[in-house]
Amino acid sequence: MSKDFELIGIVGCGKMGRIYRKVFDPLCDRFVIVDPRAADDREPRPYATLGDVPEDLFHRVQVWCICTPTENHFESLATILSRHPRARVIVEKPACLSFEVNPFQALLGKYREARVLLNRQYADSRAVREMVNALKRYDVEHIDLIRIEFSKDRRPDIDAGRFVDSHFGVLGYEWSHILTIIQQLFGQDDWATYRDLPSELQATFDHVQFVSELEEQTALPSGTKIELRSSMLGNYEFASFVPYDQLICHRYIEVNAGTIRFRLQLEPRDETRFTGPPFENHFRIEDGGDVLHDSTILDPFLPRFLQLTLNQLFQSDCPPIDWTPLERIISTRHSLRSHDDQNNLVAPAKTELRTGFD
Ligand SMILES: NC(=O)c1ccc[n+]([C@@H]2O[C@H](COP(=O)([O-])OP(=O)(O)OC[C@H]3O[C@@H](n4cnc5c(N)ncnc54)[C@H](O)[C@@H]3O)[C@@H](O)[C@H]2O)c1
Repeated sequence: MSKDFELIGIVGCGKMGRIYRKVFDPLCDRFVIVDPRAADDREPRPYATLGDVPEDLFHRVQVWCICTPTENHFESLATILSRHPRARVIVEKPACLSFEVNPFQALLGKYREARVLLNRQYADSRAVREMVNALKRYDVEHIDLIRIEFSKDRRPDIDAGRFVDSHFGVLGYEWSHILTIIQQLFGQDDWATYRDLPSELQATFDHVQFVSELEEQTALPSGTKIELRSSMLGNYEFASFVPYDQLICHRYIEVNAGTIRFRLQLEPRDETRFTGPPFENHFRIEDGGDVLHDSTILDPFLPRFLQLTLNQLFQSDCPPIDWTPLERIISTRHSLRSHDDQNNLVAPAKTELRTGFD
């Protein structure tokens, strides 16, 4: 049976690139792999650089997926578009480094016939949608508190050679996902308000990772409080409500409105798991000590979102990139960086950084 695509290109075939390959395998006859480190892979034999891919093959690639470390996204995109101005490209989050946003946007302005989208899988999480729908069903007009934590001990991965984001630190890993969820809980107006607000930040600085743990507290003028947290050191702070024997990563979302508490706990396993049942997410609604709702939502959202993004690249109404989450990440990084520079940091240190509420 013929597949939808003849040729998909993957630039950077580490942890994420291999996930793309697995997800797109049922849709695609062949892959072109570009990765200087994947020389041991036999089928297909990888090219060390994009420049090594022969011209005729390059032009037959229908979609390129950029899954290199973040610091190589922009240069990979620039190379692809210079060789194929009408290319279709999926770029991994968080798109690019802070100082590359303007050149990235200029590149899209130059190559108007190209189509470029970012992976934002949490924009299509059924579990998050269930929570948003429940807020409507319960007629929530005012949210008192939103708490989100995405934490994982990344040290074993990094020791095994996985990339280190020393530009964004902890903001470069899960923070894009956290903000994509906030966008959905808020709706457009509150998201626009939140983006410009200063926050109280508590960070653990690190001389290699820049920042390895971050907690942000922000208050909207309406009184809604937001607490966001991510740790790369495996320190989990916001309480789980489902016990797991092995907590590989803690992904937790809570919304409080009056006496009602909506809580989501996303399955704590590594996203590379594609065998076995789909990801389990636990959704609970409580009023005081009473459990009003308790369900398990099975959702293979990452493969679904990647396939959706692949299709969008070929639609006439392919949406533009939403830069607002990255802009917020950049402004948070800027606050942390100013503090780091002032303190001439040389060793890991935990610091309370008050940038808004004093
Ligand atoms: N959406 C998600 O949930 C998610 C999850 C993990 C990673 N990511 C993103 O994916 C990207 C890659 O992360 P990862 O965890 O797969 O990293 P990784 O270290 O596992 O893999 C990166 C691969 O890119 C290769 N590479 C480096 N420079 C290259 C270049 N110039 N050209 C081609 N290949 C090159 C490396 O050899 C390596 O194999 C990052 O931007 C990260 O933010 C997203």
